[in-house]
Amino acid sequence: MATSAAPASTPQFAAIGLDMGGSSIKYALVTTDGELVESTLNKAITPEGAHPDAVAEVMAQIIRDLQEVTGEDLAGLPVGVAVPGIVIDGVVHSAANIDKAWIGLDATAMLSKVLDREVHLLNDADAAGVAEVYAGAGSKDGAPIKGSTLLLTLGTGIGSAFFRDGVLFPNLEFGHLEIDGFDAESKAAARVMREENLSWDEYIARLQRYLSHVEFLCSPDLIVIGGAISEDHEHFLPKLDLRAKLVPAAFNNAAGVLGAAQRAMHP
Ligand code: BGC
Repeated sequence: MATSAAPASTPQFAAIGLDMGGSSIKYALVTTDGELVESTLNKAITPEGAHPDAVAEVMAQIIRDLQEVTGEDLAGLPVGVAVPGIVIDGVVHSAANIDKAWIGLDATAMLSKVLDREVHLLNDADAAGVAEVYAGAGSKDGAPIKGSTLLLTLGTGIGSAFFRDGVLFPNLEFGHLEIDGFDAESKAAARVMREENLSWDEYIARLQRYLSHVEFLCSPDLIVIGGAISEDHEHFLPKLDLRAKLVPAAFNNAAGVLGAAQRAMHP
């Protein structure tokens, strides 16, 4: 795993990773070797409604906190930010589970100003995918697995990232496929299992319907399942019947943070 418990006294920090979700903003520092410094991995509460200005304030506080925890001057360290929406040229174009004020916002420019440093923005599932494909469940011997790899994050929504031989096809929104007349994530996101109090069998039936359709559409060789629920993978992954190989994410909830920081290091 590309994680490191490097003590604060020997840091070679290269970037800060921030992964913004509807309930929390996860963050960590990443070393020049592209490893996440586990001792800095933490989360802050997403401000109610996730309005961009309020989120930016929390991110500024996160950087101050990281500075205090490490005792290092982090000025000038670039930041990678994963957001739960479509991101094109640094501008957010959708906001299914966050404040609609993000739509059309040049969040890169806004955050660069507030955080006073270089900021690189990308979709949260794309960020998680980058981490998994370059160093996690979609990689082998430190390189992306050949062929088509699809990463799906099951959380508040469903995030998707598609790679062919390690090359990302960005902003794939497979969480919003219309299946049986419904927006897919409204039936198969992990949040729905909790909210509708579904049993594993009931939830697995929904996932099966969803994944079979997705598999039909893009024929991946490998499907990596992320999101917090992937920690319980033994409850559901073995029960799903697909042609593609199905594996849990290696970085669980830290994948978005790591991928965001990696993007900041290699824009
Ligand atoms: C958004 C995606 C995001 C996913 C996971 C969906 O509702 O449209 O952009 O990747 O949730 O957060």
